Amino acid sequence: MSSSLHHLKATDFGKNFQWGVAIAAAQNEGAANQYGRGPSIWDVFSRNGNNIKGKGKPTIACDFYHRYKDDLLLVKALGFNSFRLSISWSRILPDGTGKINKEGIDFYHRVIDECIKLELTPYVTLYHWDLPYELEKKGGWTNYFINKWFNRFITVCAEAYGSKVKNWIILNEPFAYTSLGYMLGTHAPGKKGIDNFFPSVHHTTIAQAEGARIIRQLVPYAYIGTTFSFSEIIPHSDKKEDIQAANRVDILMNRLFIEPALGKGYPREETFRLTERMHLHNKEWKYIERLHFDFDFIGIQYYFPLVIKYNSLIPLVQASEVKAKTRKVPHTDMGWEINADSFYRTIKRIWSYDAVKEIIITENGSYFKDEIRNGVIDDAARINYFQQHLQAVLAAKNEGVNIKGYFAWTLMDNFEWAEGYNARFGLVHVDFNTQLRTIKNSGYWFRDFLSA
Ligand code: GAL
Repeated sequence: MSSSLHHLKATDFGKNFQWGVAIAAAQNEGAANQYGRGPSIWDVFSRNGNNIKGKGKPTIACDFYHRYKDDLLLVKALGFNSFRLSISWSRILPDGTGKINKEGIDFYHRVIDECIKLELTPYVTLYHWDLPYELEKKGGWTNYFINKWFNRFITVCAEAYGSKVKNWIILNEPFAYTSLGYMLGTHAPGKKGIDNFFPSVHHTTIAQAEGARIIRQLVPYAYIGTTFSFSEIIPHSDKKEDIQAANRVDILMNRLFIEPALGKGYPREETFRLTERMHLHNKEWKYIERLHFDFDFIGIQYYFPLVIKYNSLIPLVQASEVKAKTRKVPHTDMGWEINADSFYRTIKRIWSYDAVKEIIITENGSYFKDEIRNGVIDDAARINYFQQHLQAVLAAKNEGVNIKGYFAWTLMDNFEWAEGYNARFGLVHVDFNTQLRTIKNSGYWFRDFLSA
């Protein structure tokens, strides 16, 4: 793909292209202790003030719970036709299982109805990282019963919203929540080590396929996908040890979850026998089918590529990242390399799996330190990021990749997990003291782009 920008036009993406923004319950809703909602792992993880930068907590967040009507009007005003939200499991089932919270069910009805009224097509994510704390007490994703609990949650959601919602996303970025939450401990629930990681991975690959089967069964005409974070993995040098290290990271980050979903089972490599580490290899034949689902679309979430070198000190992968700052390449204020060519190659790679039928870019965006001057946020760097990455989407689409939509991350600045409230990814600025929303120039850019 050439990185020179020609004048981008939304119409070049086709008439029925889905243009959306994505949000997530824990990052936006707030009302965490209200209306019958039970605590999630993020409420508890943020409680002691040590795990989140700036001691941020998701208790109030953007107060989307109370302001959803105004916020959806903003989505509409910026010219989007779709809206991706997630359902807080512990708002629906405060204990994760057991009794249903009617107020929780009603809340998402109101949001979905408002979307429909405004002609914003809802895309509903079932799991965007906010596990009910009551389930984490029993081991969370490491517990064998998580699949039973998750299936119940999905059944409740499908029965409640199936007549209104056609587009369903089972999981958000399984690699992110299993690795950060159950191996490195930097995200909720803060568990560490491969003894937590591998069971959480296996229960997750079961959940993504079984969850999808439940939606297929209960929701006629459903359009079903699930999302994955992908990063192109580039070896630091031509040395064999760097190339092998990059390959191991690639297996974990890019293949571990999608390949079972596509019916290929877990990745097998002579040098890195993951399936054996997962104590599965003897009975894998049993699992391949259980982990497989014929997804209508695959959600690609792309932010950055990674450069990887061999590092014998790191357990399991024996690899570490060579940061963008060290390499002196363009990067966001998150320290993530900006590389739209890598995005293009990532899309093409995912498309090269035979079983992938349609693709939606379900997240893409950037954090830059925004400054308000006279009520204006001139976030030219973010506009540039979007333009370059949209160009990559268009290039892939023009070469025949069946891409149905693009969702910007994210509508408004929100609770950015362990980064707290400082890492602002929004098209709309939020003053967290007053909840005042101010559209950034990137938001206006989208409005102009989408209405041209
Ligand atoms: C994704 C995640 C989002 C958001 C984004 C920006 O991994 O799904 O919730 O946090 O990253 O970091």
